[in-house]
Amino acid sequence: MHLTSLSLTNFRVFSRLELDFPRRVILFHGANAQGKTTILEAVAFLALFTSFSAGNDRQLLNFNLPDDEPLKVGRIVGEFERGGRKQTLEVRLILEPNGSNGGTRFRKEALLNGVNRRFGELYGQFNAVSFLPQMAKIFEGGPSDRRRYLDEILCQIEPGYSKHLLRYNQAMTRRNALLKRLGDYGGPLDQLDYWDVLLAEQGAYLMKGRNGVVEQLENLARGSHLRLTDGKEVFKLEYQPSLDPTNSSSGQIKLPGVQPLAEVSSLDVEEIKSSFIKELHRRHKDDLQRGSTSIGPHRDELRFLANQIDLGDFGSRGQMRTALLSLKFAEVDLMKLRTGEWPVLLLDEVMAELDPVRREALLGLLDRVEQAFVTTTDLDMFESSFLIAHEVRKVRQGVVLKEASG
Ligand SMILES: Nc1ncnc2c1ncn2[C@@H]1O[C@H](COP(=O)(O)OP(=O)(O)OP(=O)(O)O)[C@@H](O)[C@H]1O
Ligand SMILES: [Mg+2]
Repeated sequence: MHLTSLSLTNFRVFSRLELDFPRRVILFHGANAQGKTTILEAVAFLALFTSFSAGNDRQLLNFNLPDDEPLKVGRIVGEFERGGRKQTLEVRLILEPNGSNGGTRFRKEALLNGVNRRFGELYGQFNAVSFLPQMAKIFEGGPSDRRRYLDEILCQIEPGYSKHLLRYNQAMTRRNALLKRLGDYGGPLDQLDYWDVLLAEQGAYLMKGRNGVVEQLENLARGSHLRLTDGKEVFKLEYQPSLDPTNSSSGQIKLPGVQPLAEVSSLDVEEIKSSFIKELHRRHKDDLQRGSTSIGPHRDELRFLANQIDLGDFGSRGQMRTALLSLKFAEVDLMKLRTGEWPVLLLDEVMAELDPVRREALLGLLDRVEQAFVTTTDLDMFESSFLIAHEVRKVRQGVVLKEASG
């Protein structure tokens, strides 16, 4: 798939921006703080309906909008072609007055071809793979960063995954609230059973999906990782579900890198669900004491290993960079494999961090996908043949100018 146009209104530094795109590589260059990353952020928003960098989507609204304006609306409209069909996806970011005491409320809405739809129905319409320098946090950050990494891939390739994730989180919130209430006021613990079943039902899908995607990513990443490391490093991904569904009598929180992988792939959703229910039940008293749910996909871990060595704990910066590159190759291939369409590739300032071998490999990937958006502060990073072959645009103070190739 590829974007044919992008229109932004009040999106960060862009009060108004209208761009058309060819079906190939588009290189945005310019000095710092001009709006390059913001363009990629907007494109990625059409795939995930959240920002890849902002902690809070409110921050995306242009902060120069007049304060006395009670209603503020930001817009991202992308037209894209998928399987020969033209589609339009629009996201609105709305800050509106709430109540009479001057409060405000932020909300988002999305439309596909002009029709309002739930976000859950829209995942997978437009797919993107982003590669940002800060993504090394997949290795170095906490387990929630890694769960989010998997979930963002799964939402794009597996219909229904986002719905299960939403329901799982809702059931978790309700179960935890009940645990607190029972802790404060007492009451029969079997009130938890209802939420156990709901949680297990949704959680089983999450576990099955995560396990499948980890297996496939590993298979796809292994070859390119070997090539990128001159045959020296075998790359492995290890999914460590917090619940081991093959061992329902003693479901356990696994310690990173110590226990073997649970054989989730050979189990079906019903089997995972039933061992999950048993384990939740077994932990009623513990959970009551903690006031929260101690087991389930919200506590899953994912580890990355090169030659059996855990990259998050022991990887060098260069090793992580290479592993990230292998993962990005794998994500692109996975999306093509699972959806039949190439995702749009978004590369933010990543060339600068790579040595010539890895840079060459990344340029090879650019040739394969249907469309890629690349940012750089330094055009010298690219061969003149590359600049001639591709669309180059200059970004300056929120304005984008087309440049003559070369
Ligand atoms: N909500 C907002 N409203 C208006 N401007 C914003 C908003 N959020 C960020 N900006 C500004 O947008 C500008 C462009 O940011 P962006 O990250 O896109 O720049 P960039 O070209 O990628 O720069 P760099 O090369 O440093 O990565 C920055 O000056 C930033 O302060
Ligand atoms: Mg930037």
